[in-house]
Amino acid sequence: MRPISAAIDWEALRAQARELTARAYAPYSHFPVGAAALVDDGRVVTGCNVENAAYGVALCAECGLVSSLVAGGGGRLVAFTCANALGERLMPCGRCRQLLWEHGGADLLVDTPLGVLSMGEVLPQAFGAADIAEVTGEEL
Ligand code: THU
Repeated sequence: MRPISAAIDWEALRAQARELTARAYAPYSHFPVGAAALVDDGRVVTGCNVENAAYGVALCAECGLVSSLVAGGGGRLVAFTCANALGERLMPCGRCRQLLWEHGGADLLVDTPLGVLSMGEVLPQAFGAADIAEVTGEEL
């Protein structure tokens, strides 16, 4: 069963996201990002953005977070937060909403400047594994 939002230590998660901005490698945009998420087994996974001289291959903080999730044993994301260098909440970009959807689905709680919303609210009518399964018949 998923924890309800009130049971999640959002302040601790936000603190971790803010800390991660200090590890970001963002010499091109000068826009460090830190992300932290609670996993359904109680783990917390984090990430920061990692840029590249070839600008287009920059990795968002969420990419690192999802890699850490999978490399650390997998699981489902339950609650997610992201911070900029001012320590303010930041919305994940469109591509990263898709990344998060894959590992948290519609019920993943996302900390937004408008309050905690579900992933279903921040990525409505998302494309996902079910759309593929509907055609191929192959469930994940
Ligand atoms: N960035 C993230 O890390 N996550 C987002 O969701 C938005 C954008 C990074 C990518 C790039 O390194 C910098 O912010 C400026 O776009």
